[in-house]
Amino acid sequence: MRKIIKGAVVGAALLIAAPAYASGDGSAANQGNLNSALLVSNCVVCHGQGGDSQGHTPSIDGLNRAQMLNALTEFKSGARKGTIMTRIAPGYTDAQLEAIASELTGN
Ligand code: HEC
Repeated sequence: MRKIIKGAVVGAALLIAAPAYASGDGSAANQGNLNSALLVSNCVVCHGQGGDSQGHTPSIDGLNRAQMLNALTEFKSGARKGTIMTRIAPGYTDAQLEAIASELTGN
């Protein structure tokens, strides 16, 4: 009986904690990661090395920092429509989007 109660408490705690890890919603668990090289490693998968896309995904190497941050912020808020970026951008905190924009545009 005692074991079952303990398991239930741990299970409930995990249920509460899990969405914070999964959504990257700026929770305490995600606040700290501003490793910009790591943050942008995801982007090259679709946008190509250095943002120079060889496929159907738009190249992002021609954008300056303001344009990049504006696009990401609008994808996050839903102000700009998209098929994929509207799902990716909300996964980052505003501080992480700033770090990403700096890393990708070099300023
Ligand atoms: C799974 C593929 C994929 C990944 C990963 C991805 N993107 Fe995108 N990106 C797209 C697509 C597709 C579009 C076109 C808009 C749409 O349909 O969402 C786009 C559009 C953009 C645009 C707007 C370009 C323009 O000129 O309008 C920016 C900026 C951008 N992505 C930045 C990023 C950044 C920064 C990352 C990494 C954090 C990233 N993307 C990761 C697929 C991806």
